[in-house]
Amino acid sequence: MAEQAGVSLGTVSNVLNRPDSVSDQTRQRVLAVIERLGYVRSESARQLRAGRSRIIALLVLDMANPFFVEMARGAQQAARAAGLAVMMCNSAADPAEEADYLAMFAEQQVRGVLVTPTGDAADGRLHVLRGRGIPFVYADREQPSAKACSVSVDDVAGGRLAVRHLLTEGHRKVVYLSGPAHLAQSRDRHAGALAAFAEAGLPPDRLTVLEAARFDVTAGREAAARLLGMADRPTAVFCANDLLALGVLQALYAAGLRVPQEMAIVGYDDIDFASAAAVPLTSVRQPAHRIGRTAAELLIAETDEEAAPAHEHRKIVFQPELVVRSSSLSGHRRP
Ligand code: RIB
Repeated sequence: MAEQAGVSLGTVSNVLNRPDSVSDQTRQRVLAVIERLGYVRSESARQLRAGRSRIIALLVLDMANPFFVEMARGAQQAARAAGLAVMMCNSAADPAEEADYLAMFAEQQVRGVLVTPTGDAADGRLHVLRGRGIPFVYADREQPSAKACSVSVDDVAGGRLAVRHLLTEGHRKVVYLSGPAHLAQSRDRHAGALAAFAEAGLPPDRLTVLEAARFDVTAGREAAARLLGMADRPTAVFCANDLLALGVLQALYAAGLRVPQEMAIVGYDDIDFASAAAVPLTSVRQPAHRIGRTAAELLIAETDEEAAPAHEHRKIVFQPELVVRSSSLSGHRRP
């Protein structure tokens, strides 16, 4: 290309990277050759030379869950403001898939990684990233040590809000429909549910725990079949996320059970479908967009060349909010 334009390789590089340092006549001659040859710049080659990718990787538990889509939108907003982009990947809550993606992010030398980890064991794999000079931020999970930034919601408080509401509505036999128990989200929301029973002076055995295989609508429908088959059936169910709750709602409706009159339902996340459900769903709202935006802002600050040396890891915990709708309002019950 340089030969065809009658200039040096350095001049071609200047035309591409520092166009102001080249005369208009030379720049036009080189650009004409580039167009004739159909040359396309290699971003990965540029990144290797500059050592600074413009891609932030976001690894979530379930790309089909609107909660993570909203979290990704928040991260994208912060990334775009910094001239960066977000690449969203799905671990499917599977540690092996998580490990594969983390290895790929390290190999591709992404700018940094936002991750909702698949469980406590993920912490070791994530520090491998740091060993390659790739910072990461926990999104939607509190980081137990101070070795990384984290942005999360107090899920214990969220579980307590959900079940305190059901107890206030007069329910005394409640089911907690958990997601996979290895996820911190499942454990913390369960702990909050138990705390609500304790503060009401009620025995914990009035809270029955069912564990769903996944945090999705199908698993919610499957769990509802178990709920319907329970002897001495509880009158309320707190679901660990809205997708489970929507699956339960659909299955109970198909079985002819009235919600909330015969079964009150509370979900978690307050995704858009919650308010749009056939029986609008009471849910514990998480600020998903803000979680994503804040996590990305922390990561971008940590990767900024000037600011990085002074960077101190931060743990940001937002508070959940109970949004009451008709799926749990059935008037006060006699205990
Ligand atoms: O992925 C399961 C759940 O964890 C989501 O629905 C959201 O609540 C997250 O915190």
